[in-house]
Amino acid sequence: MSIYRPFQKLVSITILGHAVDVPENNLVLRCFQFLAPDSLPYGSFCWNEQCQLCRIRYRSLGEGTERQALSCKLLVAEGMVITQLAPELRLHLMPLWER
Ligand code: FES
Repeated sequence: MSIYRPFQKLVSITILGHAVDVPENNLVLRCFQFLAPDSLPYGSFCWNEQCQLCRIRYRSLGEGTERQALSCKLLVAEGMVITQLAPELRLHLMPLWER
């Protein structure tokens, strides 16, 4: 059984200025796992809206307002722009762009 919710296509989002494609219909934290499958599962994430380690700031497509959210609770959407990652997320995602 897949850890991902069923998806037909990838959607494009931006994480700290980096364009990436991730599976539609999935939680943002799961999308982060899609990008860093060998690292993120070893993070201290509760996946249950309690630890707060998955916090992000983001803007939706066409919106100027920045919002804060728990990425384990938020569904990804085409054009999402993620502007801040909590330290635990940075630890697992930033190596993707530091190679
Ligand atoms: S993973 Fe713990 S609050 Fe989101």
